[in-house]
Parts: sequence; structure tokens; C-alpha cells
Amino acid sequence: MEASAKPPAIHNCTSDGGWTVVLPRRGRQRSKATKVGVSEEKQEPWAPTDSQTDPSRETSMMQKMERCINRVGSSEFYSTMRCQIQTSLSDYVHRVLGSETKMEMVVYGIGSIESYEPPRLQLSLAILMRRDFSWIGNIEVYDPVLSLSESRVIESLGCSVMSVNEHGRREAQKPTMFFMPHCEAELYNNLLQANWKLNLLRNMVLFGNSFETYKEHASLCKNSRVNSMEHILSVRRFTTEFRIKTVSDDYYNAFHDSSWHFFSPVLETELQLSDS
Ligand SMILES: C[S@@+](CC[C@H](N)C(=O)[O-])C[C@H]1O[C@@H](n2cnc3c(N)ncnc32)[C@H](O)[C@@H]1O
Repeated sequence: MEASAKPPAIHNCTSDGGWTVVLPRRGRQRSKATKVGVSEEKQEPWAPTDSQTDPSRETSMMQKMERCINRVGSSEFYSTMRCQIQTSLSDYVHRVLGSETKMEMVVYGIGSIESYEPPRLQLSLAILMRRDFSWIGNIEVYDPVLSLSESRVIESLGCSVMSVNEHGRREAQKPTMFFMPHCEAELYNNLLQANWKLNLLRNMVLFGNSFETYKEHASLCKNSRVNSMEHILSVRRFTTEFRIKTVSDDYYNAFHDSSWHFFSPVLETELQLSDS
């Protein structure tokens, strides 16, 4: 999968039972990144592959990010999202927080903020949410395509860049928001698999591709691809999903088909894997 192709993660099944990525409906982009598979490996150290950084590149990237944060911050898209969080999501967020006052945000699969606008819009949204919601704590970011310059800009924006490729398998031992806009299904599946326990699932808030949409696509055919999404399909039984509104075309590429997901399993038996 290219880093930043749109929409990146909703797959469709073909008449011969194979899976194909649904191509973008608008604004296709070319990617500079090579394919980065979502491995089943647990953790491995990671550092940007480039060792040089260029101050003028960083300055220009920082300016782009600042413009983007201002634009998103004053948009109807963001005010609608903020309102959704303050109203519909509020009880769910507080249930996840429990007695804690903050939840960390883990951002996986952001893509290249230097090359593409959707990753800049997505990171801007994460940064604005931290600014506006006191219960959001530190932001940790990871994507194997990040360059050293991109990592430095992300850190200048007050986030930290992980030095480990967790393959999406961070355990939510405390309340954690996973911000994963337009990631591949395997990454969501890895995350759910690593947290497949009552207490861990209840600690999670997940922003990403709509699981409802995955279900609709998966029901079109049964094959090994569906097996690699079994946690996504099984988790829906005890998931409350809130779709977001992209409001205007400006935010379509970065946020279409995205939802907030909250998980409230009560019984161990609900953790049985099946797509029903
Ligand atoms: C389809 S792209 C989406 C990029 C961006 N969010 C967007 O909407 O343009 C999926 C991203 O997941 C990243 N990715 C792949 N493996 C990953 C991993 N183990 N942890 C975090 N991100 C990963 C890829 O490098 C890629 O940038």
C-alpha cells in the first residue's frame, strides 16, 4: 500500500474472491514511499533511514504545518468535530478515562507530512485536539516512512516520535487514544489482537477507518483476507462507532469514512472470534 494513496484501507473483493484496494474517488496521489507491510513481528528498533537533515527543508515543512494547523483550527470541519467530541462522545471518553485525568494519544500511520496534505491535515487535527481537550496528554507518533527532517518537525510541534516499530501492537494498559487515520486493516487488526482482553479494550479510543464499512465489504466474500481482519470483524459486537463528518471537500481525502470507536465488552465470551 502506498503511504498516502486514498482511500488507503478499505478493501473490496473481486468476483474471483481476491481483494483489491478501492481506488481514490478524488485526488489520487503518487507516493514517494516504498511499500511498508504490516508485519506480525512484535517490536523492533527503528530510526529514519536518512541521517542528514536540511534546516531549510525543516523550516518550510514547519511553515506548512503551522498554516495547516491554523486552517484546520478555524474550519467548520474542526468546529463540527469538536462539538461531536463535547456532546456525543463525552460520556464514552469519560468512561475510558475512569479515574485518570489524561489519556495519551498514539498516532500510527500518519504518512509523509512533507510530501502530502492528508498527513498534514491529520497531524493538525491531533495537535488541535490536544490543545483544546485537557484530557489529552502526550502525543506519540510513528510511521516507518518518516524522514529525519519530518521527525524533527513533529518533535518541534510538541509530539514525540517513537524509536520502535510496534507494528501497531501497543497494549492499552492505561487510557489511550489511538489516532490512526486511513491505516491499513492489518494495523487495526494487530492493535485489537494485542488488546484482546476486557480491561485493555475498555481503555481504548480508536479513531480510524470505519469498522462498519469493513464489515460491509467483508460480507461480500469470504477468503483469507477476511481472516486477517478477524479481530476487526469480531470487535464490532461490542463497539460503539461514531462516524465523523468531513463537512467540506477540503477534508474529504484526509478523513472520509473515518469514525471514532469505543469498545465495551462485558463478558469473556464476547471475545470469541467470529464475524457475526
Ligand atoms: C495508507 S497509508 C496512510 C497514510 C496517511 N494516514 C494518509 O491518510 O495519507 C498507511 C500508512 O501506514 C504506515 N505504516 C505501515 N506499517 C506501519 C507500522 N508498523 N506502524 C505505523 N505505521 C505503519 C505506512 O507507512 C503508511 O504511511
